[in-house]
Amino acid sequence: MAQHDIDATDIISRRSITSLISVHSAPVRDGLPDPPMKLGQDIIIEIPPTSAADDEAFVAALVEIINAAYTETEGDIFKPGYLRTSGQDIATLLRSSELAVASQHTSSGGRIPLGCISIQKLGETRAELGLFAVVAELRGNGLGRDLLEFAEQHCLSELGDSGAVVTQLNVLFPKHFEHPFKIRLQKWYMKLGYQIVRHRDFLLDYPQLAPLLTGPTEYRMLEKKLV
Ligand SMILES: CC(C)(COP(=O)(O)OP(=O)(O)OC[C@H]1O[C@@H](n2cnc3c(N)ncnc32)[C@H](O)[C@@H]1OP(=O)(O)O)[C@@H](O)C(=O)NCCC(=O)NCCS
Repeated sequence: MAQHDIDATDIISRRSITSLISVHSAPVRDGLPDPPMKLGQDIIIEIPPTSAADDEAFVAALVEIINAAYTETEGDIFKPGYLRTSGQDIATLLRSSELAVASQHTSSGGRIPLGCISIQKLGETRAELGLFAVVAELRGNGLGRDLLEFAEQHCLSELGDSGAVVTQLNVLFPKHFEHPFKIRLQKWYMKLGYQIVRHRDFLLDYPQLAPLLTGPTEYRMLEKKLV
């Protein structure tokens, strides 16, 4: 994949999340500031410059956020050993400008990632969102909603000329037990305008993951018409 650098002026959108002030009091992950975490106008959501793919610490921090988030919420769907993503996957997404990242910008020009969402075009009018995660310490403060909204606005600006734009995402559901987090997550997506359009056996698409599943699993595809 061709690599092309974008400078800071190419940042697509900046969002200040002023509600996130001193929300943090628990122990923090390596690489994040000591508590209390003062978050304010220096948090932005952006498609980082493609050169971020070569920043090993940035990529590793994103991998850790995603894998920790999915292990936490899907640790009962997958057996130990399953990891949602890798450094290679994240570097590829950053190189192709397919990952929106919420990060705290430091005075020295660094970025400390706090959450992300992938945005992959599937055609002229459709995009799939995924790898959606926020550091555990900040959840419930609206950062996830802001990331989702950013991704939708990005799709509208990239695909809007072609007519109605649709975003879709897949939510994994175990069939052998009730999963309160997934039920809450689905309700949240539906509150934000998503509708379930398909149930599909996860193993039809990912048979190689069968040994890692704790039981029968389906994913529900949700989609939202943006215009
Ligand atoms: C999904 C995710 C990115 C949302 O991030 P977030 O920063 O918590 O998002 P928000 O703060 O906008 O909150 C989302 C909703 O969850 C609710 N919520 C968040 N944390 C909660 C908690 N601990 N208990 C109950 N509700 C909670 C919020 O109240 C909000 O619902 P509301 O708008 O009805 O009030 C985050 O939960 C996450 O990282 N999950 C793990 C990975 C994952 O499941 N990804 C999605 C796969 S499809």
